Amino acid sequence: MRYRSEDIENLLNQLRIEEVVGDVIELKKSGANYKGLCPFHPDTTPSFSVSPTKNICKCFVCGAGGNAIKFYSMYYKISYEEAIEELAKKYNISIKEYKRNFAKENENEKYYKIMEDAHRYYQDNIFENNGRIALEYLNKRGVNPKIIRENQLGYALNEWSSLYDYLVVKGHKKEDIIELGLAKNGEKGVYDTFRNRIIFPIYSIGGKVIAFGGRTLENNKEVPKYINSPDTPIFKKGKNLYGIKDKGNILKKKNYSLLMEGYMDVLSAHCYGFDVALASLGTAFTYEQGELLKKYTNNIIMSLDMDNAGQMATERTALILKNLGFNIRVLKLENAKDPDEFLKNFGKEAFLKAVKNSLEIFDFLYEMYSKEYDLSNIMSKEKFIDRFKEFFKNVESTLERSLYLDKLSKYTGIEKKLLQETLVDNNIYQKKEERKEFFLEKEKEKTSSVSILEEMTVELIFSQIDFYKYFSDKNIESSFVKKIFYFFEEVNENKNINFLKEFKEFIERENFTEEEKNKLFIMQYRALDYTDNKKKQELLKEIFKSWFIKEIKDINMQMKNLKFSLEVKKIEICLYSDISFEELLEKYKNFRGILSEYNIL
Ligand code: CTP
Ligand code: MN
Repeated sequence: MRYRSEDIENLLNQLRIEEVVGDVIELKKSGANYKGLCPFHPDTTPSFSVSPTKNICKCFVCGAGGNAIKFYSMYYKISYEEAIEELAKKYNISIKEYKRNFAKENENEKYYKIMEDAHRYYQDNIFENNGRIALEYLNKRGVNPKIIRENQLGYALNEWSSLYDYLVVKGHKKEDIIELGLAKNGEKGVYDTFRNRIIFPIYSIGGKVIAFGGRTLENNKEVPKYINSPDTPIFKKGKNLYGIKDKGNILKKKNYSLLMEGYMDVLSAHCYGFDVALASLGTAFTYEQGELLKKYTNNIIMSLDMDNAGQMATERTALILKNLGFNIRVLKLENAKDPDEFLKNFGKEAFLKAVKNSLEIFDFLYEMYSKEYDLSNIMSKEKFIDRFKEFFKNVESTLERSLYLDKLSKYTGIEKKLLQETLVDNNIYQKKEERKEFFLEKEKEKTSSVSILEEMTVELIFSQIDFYKYFSDKNIESSFVKKIFYFFEEVNENKNINFLKEFKEFIERENFTEEEKNKLFIMQYRALDYTDNKKKQELLKEIFKSWFIKEIKDINMQMKNLKFSLEVKKIEICLYSDISFEELLEKYKNFRGILSEYNIL
């Protein structure tokens, strides 16, 4: 146990059970006690009772409950110890920790220590002579030394292995440093992953540095703008938020958060006094990140990028947030691509005005969906209404659903009863747990099916490098495949280079995990098998087709214009018949033509 029993006792005495419970479920005073709906079973009469005098809570129907720590750990599905740690942090109560002897604990301790040392090193660099370029860069972008210190930013020098050398001198092991993704094993020795990059530290909820994001200072399109730590024993993507460190109390006090897309957006927001800004970290917002936020506040103002991708992400994220019961508003920033740019160009007052004019999520969706349909056409009006089904599936409260129906009825002039039929009666609200499963499943599914296609494409290009030209315009999602595509791009430009030699160097140079290296090796090995030219052509056709179909699907999700859909549908049908590769390319050209006609490209 990391905590001594008398210290736990002390923590429990300082916690107010009605506050701990009251922060997550609504409580009403009832005599000396409080009552509320039990969060551990489907409850309709308030069966959950909280006793401040006994300092415990209990459900009289399902029996769940206990002291504040037990409640908190059950509610958030975390261990007793994690609950102690978080409660102490959340309510600002200090509690002494004792070293555990478990091997696992020690194992992670060493990783935390390395990250801490690396972070210190990066932070010191930024104020040194050879870090001046970073200071100047940040300065140019309006990030002053105060913000740099507050956000504990750093700089990875433009040197081959300065961090690695430093860590080794500090007594850390080579394998551990590599395991954390801070350095890589190359042919000419070990070298640093982050070079010539601004370093953004990423913290665990407990406040430890567990990963880094790095923005390049180079102005070269071939260098990825950002790289992030890979998954490591102490870091899993999609579970943390950028900008949340030490913000727990502020978020609770101000009781709202601003959700943004990028590191720089969050920093800018901080510069302008919006200290409640957070961002998901280089990945699409996940359900787990939503649960994390929910611990601090119920109110979110979304301020993602203003481009198409950002708007689609807003819809996606909002459904998750709605399912978790947040109040959501969406910012519209005119004449800027993201909050960073907006704040710099128009300042704080303009941003506050945008907050004031922000749309409630339903109104945002209404605006978004209206643009997709021709509402004078009955058929598309029906589709338009259907478009709200997903949203309604995630609205838990009956009252809230009814209010939204009222709104929609008012906006469209369609009788509420009819809307109710489509969006509520025949569109049953699923329990939170089921929806959660659905979102988690979708997150998993998306990454796996997309990455399968992406990886098959890589394999195909390995078998014949000039096939790359058919895929060079594809939107790659997996960061693993992205790196490989950068490489293809390079090779494609210099026809005379020795592919195998370059490839070997590339693998050494890049930030690949052992697993990824194995994958690459297998893909390359399998590509050797593609000796039959006819089969290779066949495969090219199939893979090209899969991409094509995927693009049509993606575009259909965002464009709900009937005429557009029909034109695209005509092309799509051909894809399911037996057509030659040349015809396929022709169809693809047509498709792109339609896209530009509708201003989508
Ligand atoms: N991102 C990433 N890898 C990339 C590009 C982006 O992980 N190759 C993530 C980063 O977390 C980044 C966010 O996606 O902060 C948003 O991307 P973008 O808008 O391009 O970055 P900004 O933070 O706005 O950075 P900048 O203003 O410096 O361009
Ligand atoms: Mn940006």
